[in-house]
Amino acid sequence: MAKIRTQYICERCGTVHIQWSGRCNSCGEWNTLYEQAAASNSGGTRSAGKSKSKSSICDSLDLGSVDLSQQAISTGSFEFDRALGGGLTPGSVTLIGGEPGIGKSTLLTQFLASAGSDGHRCLYVSAEESRSQIAGRICRLGGSEISIGILIASELQDIEEQILSYKPQIVVIDSIQTVYDYLAPSPAGSVTQVRECATRLSDLAKSGNIAMVLVGHVTKDGTLAGPRVLEHLVDTVVYFEGDRDSYLRVLRVIKHRFGPVGDLGMFEMGSFGLVDLENATGVHLVDRVEGQAGSVVFPALDGRRVILTEVQALVVPTSSEQPRRVATGLEMNRVLLLLAVLEKKIGLRLYNKDVFLSVAGGIRLTDPAADLATITAVVSSLNDQPVDPSFVVVGEVGLGGEIRSASNARQRLAEASRLGFTTGIVGSTFSDSVAGMLTLRVKDVRSALGYASLTFC
Ligand code: TYD
Ligand code: MG
Repeated sequence: MAKIRTQYICERCGTVHIQWSGRCNSCGEWNTLYEQAAASNSGGTRSAGKSKSKSSICDSLDLGSVDLSQQAISTGSFEFDRALGGGLTPGSVTLIGGEPGIGKSTLLTQFLASAGSDGHRCLYVSAEESRSQIAGRICRLGGSEISIGILIASELQDIEEQILSYKPQIVVIDSIQTVYDYLAPSPAGSVTQVRECATRLSDLAKSGNIAMVLVGHVTKDGTLAGPRVLEHLVDTVVYFEGDRDSYLRVLRVIKHRFGPVGDLGMFEMGSFGLVDLENATGVHLVDRVEGQAGSVVFPALDGRRVILTEVQALVVPTSSEQPRRVATGLEMNRVLLLLAVLEKKIGLRLYNKDVFLSVAGGIRLTDPAADLATITAVVSSLNDQPVDPSFVVVGEVGLGGEIRSASNARQRLAEASRLGFTTGIVGSTFSDSVAGMLTLRVKDVRSALGYASLTFC
């Protein structure tokens, strides 16, 4: 018979403690531990009613019998498929996180509608919305009749039963935080509840070869509630991101057992749902005014995808004793370092100037390869000399003013060339050639500014 012992779970981070303490030694939060009984020979927190199946050892794997053709169910969206490396794998669990209102339910309703019309048996379990709300969304998305099963339920046992009897190939649980196990002692929505429900649903996905998607709302600090516990349980973790005031949405894969991580899917939220973003590489350049001093195009790398960004600078005489340095989308310490390089190595006088820097489109650049573009934009604004609009600039700047080559420079230049840019200023160690792109290799900041036709004294 299993011996019962007591363990203490942190409500915030899910860490299991063998002794009670006023403070969780993992996340440091106070008064978050609560007691739970655990069978010492089970090692887990499963519900008592669950029968234990007997495992067996397989001593030879018949690799020829693996059916690779059954991998990946297409989501019906090129961008969604691209992010997932082809689609959703049967028997896998995908967690999709994002802020409330960002468009998770819309994305998944569109996916199920597409999979349903492709002949897959789909079940949409909503633990948050009513049938009429879901119907309203489907109508807005242009569907009059869609072949998916809809279940309004939040009790885990009920959902498990319905899945077993409906036998779907694809299940969406919207959201995992509102599903609860009435046998578990912790309150609904707590870390333990969420983890227990996700574990049980994940077991069901594996045993029934179901492609399952769990929706998870992110907390204020940007992590899935409770922090990271679900990410270990599932096969794939994607975040759906974007500014609610903008139409742009990005799907970012941060864990993927069946494909590459780091790829992005990019969408536009329109009046009739999400549409794949055409020309995602240049989406942040659409409002760019060519021929303006202080504007330089930098091919940024987001995950494995190149996104062209515009670094803008405005340098004006200061009216205060302390000149202002303001940077939006760039790291301030990096900006201060680059301005110091310009003063010391090029001899520019910036101590009596206010410098404002911004990356258009609300992008945040942490890549040091943006250094040279930043410096070029500052000098362009200072001199009131525009940089040729067909130029892109890539390179990291060292403290001595030397230029280091950027990672994936070839890929960056190739994407820029595809969008019509004809000249790239890059580090001198770049040895590749890119079709349609003249590469100007530079050793230091001085020669880079010379190639950009920027004079200085
Ligand atoms: P929703 O998918 O409900 O977000 P989430 O599930 O992440 O909470 O999307 C909510 C927002 O999307 C809402 O503000 C309305 C907007 N929306 C559109 O702009 N166009 C559409 O076609 C749809 C269905 C929603
Ligand atoms: Mg929703």
